[in-house]
Amino acid sequence: KRVVLAYSGGLDTSVIVRWLTDRGFEVITYTADVGQGEELSEIEEKALKAGAVKAIIDDIKEEFARDYCMPLMRATALYEGKYTLLSSLSRPLIAKKLVEVAHREGAHYVAHGSTGKGNDQVRFEASVWALDPDIEVLAPVREWEFKSREEEIDYAMKHGIPVKATKEKPYSYDRNLWGVAIEAGPLEDPWTEPPEDAFEITVSPEKAPDTPEYIEIEFKEGTPIKLNGKEYDQLWKLIWDLNEIAGKHGVGRIDMVENRLVGIKTREVYESPAGLILISAYDDLESIVLDRFTYHYKKDHISHPYAKLVYEGLWFSKLRESLDAFNNEIAKIVNGKVRVKLYKGSFKIVGRQSPNSLYSEDLATYSPKDAFDHKAGGAFTKVWALPLKVFARANKR
Ligand code: ARG
Ligand code: SIN
Repeated sequence: KRVVLAYSGGLDTSVIVRWLTDRGFEVITYTADVGQGEELSEIEEKALKAGAVKAIIDDIKEEFARDYCMPLMRATALYEGKYTLLSSLSRPLIAKKLVEVAHREGAHYVAHGSTGKGNDQVRFEASVWALDPDIEVLAPVREWEFKSREEEIDYAMKHGIPVKATKEKPYSYDRNLWGVAIEAGPLEDPWTEPPEDAFEITVSPEKAPDTPEYIEIEFKEGTPIKLNGKEYDQLWKLIWDLNEIAGKHGVGRIDMVENRLVGIKTREVYESPAGLILISAYDDLESIVLDRFTYHYKKDHISHPYAKLVYEGLWFSKLRESLDAFNNEIAKIVNGKVRVKLYKGSFKIVGRQSPNSLYSEDLATYSPKDAFDHKAGGAFTKVWALPLKVFARANKR
């Protein structure tokens, strides 16, 4: 019996290696570099020490940026209007890799370390089955006997699994290129302001520079290609650099109580500087290259449905592919530059320009250059308001 385990190198997944081995499985670990900014050089040794028969380490940053972050940006999707979906995005890609490795290694099982009360279990499993309905998924954390971290540590020590001696922060992190999700510890009280030590990639706005910084992002056919005039041949690097520049200004923090799929409300804290800025910049360019009908249709019928389907683990669905087709059609004309001002925890779009711009100063101006037909405005207003007039007459308002 072979199983491919999504392995982070942390306590939970290391204990899972041993736990599955004890139950007769040959465990192959799979660890992805999705831009979590961690040295993965010790992962193989760790996995083998915990009992794995093979450890695979895979750099998938560019694929994650290109095929997951970009479609989400083009959808201008934010869950509940706030969350950049960073954890929700990485699960389907990791699931896809687990399935590929399972096929290559002749494994009939895949496994993950998510709990039974979260979203991630749903995203992993729905993604795996969408790609191979016959694979079986194991989720040891949902089943095993350990009731606390201490019990897990005891088990780890007993089996010679190295446990980090360093005093760990009380938080749980999930980090990738698109940002950081922070949970647990003092954050579980939604009334408590997140302590400064919870944050990983943003400085506190109070400590951010006293002078604003302006950045310029250039898009070509719906893809960011330049940051501050510098061309990037790798998307992940652009996202990485944007996180760094904006993080220094304390930009990108999100604090919300969100609705999980399993019915729980949770307090979530995120840092997603590049995600928020890119989604916002993209939306801003759309606002000048799209006609009103298309722009409004997208806002009303695409962006939030897209955010929900990503949150709800439906990445590998016909629905997502179809919405992507809509967004990609628009992306063909999303060209141009956006200027963003970063200052003490906030960012603002302060300028935009595009070769596809529909903005016409002649029509918009209040100066003598005005080319708009004001008489036509009067006739239009009469016709537009006609239903209200008719209603008012009938109902004696
Ligand atoms: N609530 C967020 C989401 O569902 C974050 C999940 C964080 N995952 C984690 N393993 N810490 O996308
Ligand atoms: C987990 O419970 O495994 C992490 C949180 C989540 O999936 O929502």
